[in-house]
Amino acid sequence: MTLSIAPLAPEDIDALCVLARTVWRHHYPPIIGTAQTEYMLAQRYDPDVIRSELAHSGIWWDTLREEDSIVAFASSFPVESGDALKLDKLYVHPTRQRLGYGGVLIEHVCERAARLKYPKVLLAVNKRNETAIAAYRKHGFEVAEAVVKEIGGGFVMDDFIMQKSVAADAPQAYSRAS
Ligand SMILES: CC(C)(COP(=O)(O)OP(=O)(O)OC[C@H]1O[C@@H](n2cnc3c(N)ncnc32)[C@H](O)[C@@H]1OP(=O)(O)O)[C@@H](O)C(=O)NCCC(=O)NCCS
Repeated sequence: MTLSIAPLAPEDIDALCVLARTVWRHHYPPIIGTAQTEYMLAQRYDPDVIRSELAHSGIWWDTLREEDSIVAFASSFPVESGDALKLDKLYVHPTRQRLGYGGVLIEHVCERAARLKYPKVLLAVNKRNETAIAAYRKHGFEVAEAVVKEIGGGFVMDDFIMQKSVAADAPQAYSRAS
């Protein structure tokens, strides 16, 4: 089987949203409850939202494919202060977890950060998302701080910020090809 990483194309957006729903509904209800899971899915994985993010913002969307089928994805972007890339999303299909696919995408984002001279990659992960925290530790991240953020609808994100050092020089500008 051929495994490959490709940028998200507009024609992949519906498949990515279906995958996100599959992962979230499998993983998050025991952690944040069904209502918050559905609220966040509607906020983040409406195909129109992703289409607009893909067209207008400096976000890299990476898909991991088995042959032509998307089984995992990640998104990343430079933080406002310019001293890190944020790994903003990382999701692997439930039947493909723990096969190293998350690690492949983490490595891909860390290589991008190093190539563009961002000194670190950071991410936010729910404090109760123990399997993801274990995965991030396995792939070299450490907890840097704890944050609580209101996201509307009466919900909060109760997260750890984790980070990993990748390079030491000044950042270069965003380019979708990177
Ligand atoms: C977290 C996630 C992205 C990691 O990707 P992955 O491909 O499963 O991870 P890898 O195969 O690269 O690394 C495996 C490590 O992850 C951790 N892990 C992942 N799934 C696990 C599970 N079900 N039970 C226990 N540990 C798990 C372990 O540390 C594991 O290492 P081990 O097998 O040596 O014990 C993926 O499991 C996932 O999509 N989870 C659900 C959604 C999620 O929480 N995303 C992160 C949002 S911040």
